[in-house]
Amino acid sequence: MTKRIFSGAQPTGQLHIGNYLGALKNWVALQDEYEAFYCIVNLHAITLPQEPAALRKATLDLARIYLAAGVDPERSTIFIQSDVPEHAELAWTLSCIARMGELERMTQFKDKGKGNAERAGVGLFTYPILMAADILLYQTDLVPVGQDQKQHLELTRDLAERFNRDYGETFRVPEPYIPQAGASIKSLQEPERKMSKSDENAAGSIFLLDDADTVTKKIKRAVTDSGTTIEFDETRPAINNLLTIYRLLTNKREEECVAHFAGKGYGAFKAELAEATVEFLRPFQERVKQYDDETLLAILKPGAEKARAIASETLANVYLKLGIK
Ligand code: TYM
Repeated sequence: MTKRIFSGAQPTGQLHIGNYLGALKNWVALQDEYEAFYCIVNLHAITLPQEPAALRKATLDLARIYLAAGVDPERSTIFIQSDVPEHAELAWTLSCIARMGELERMTQFKDKGKGNAERAGVGLFTYPILMAADILLYQTDLVPVGQDQKQHLELTRDLAERFNRDYGETFRVPEPYIPQAGASIKSLQEPERKMSKSDENAAGSIFLLDDADTVTKKIKRAVTDSGTTIEFDETRPAINNLLTIYRLLTNKREEECVAHFAGKGYGAFKAELAEATVEFLRPFQERVKQYDDETLLAILKPGAEKARAIASETLANVYLKLGIK
């Protein structure tokens, strides 16, 4: 039987090159080998306040991004999370077997809740359970994500194993797929921190919809570390990050990149990185424009139907095991 993949991204803020290199690029690469489900997780988006019209628009825009990145609706199922109500239902069920202590350990909650549990939304706290439900509904084998989702995957595995132990074999226990390079693309301004959609400083991120001028300026202004050589070196996070972006966008091997920039300085390197990024983004942005709303709905609606057929089977089995039905 073909193995199954599930992954998703939130329709909040703008997607950046970190989301692409850490996740979407691998979604595209893996869709030949696996039966893939790629979800637009709009129920996750409301863990922080959203402007309703903007959220509605961002949800469809994210479908455009998936398609422009190369997710092929003929091979992969693309759908909107809220079109499959089983996600919220299974999340409730799993919240009854999850423990407060395991959620309290989630570092994303600590970051996004800004350390203020008293005022943080309950949804922000229980969000990893919804993510576990997303994955487990599809009897997923593999979940391609960036490094920041690793802890959520561990929770997902723990919940699946606990349920299977207590109620009998019900869920497949998924494995994370975290790429060796690109799993944590860093901010151009603060290379110790990951590039993040919620960063208030837009200069730290290259957004997938940035124009050529903006991209070139951001790369020119990217901070650098001491030392002049253009090399992969974890003790120099700024150059390490920029060179990783270059390497992944041009699909070159590490040694090739290093040899290519031997003897060259930051100026020449940044100019080439800017060029490579613009060359990647130009056709990408052209593709984003190709999909009108009608075309998108013609992909998303059957996508949701296909997803729902599988999700409802898993949920029915869960309810049977629990004595709900
Ligand atoms: P989200 O929307 O924050 O990010 C989407 C994907 O991009 C990856 N990513 C990065 N990769 C490399 N470098 C970075 N700087 C970087 N920033 C983000 C993320 O790891 C992610 O893979 N909780 C998830 C969405 C989700 C999900 C799921 C994912 C909900 N349910 C089920 C997989 C399976 C999130 O907020 O991703």
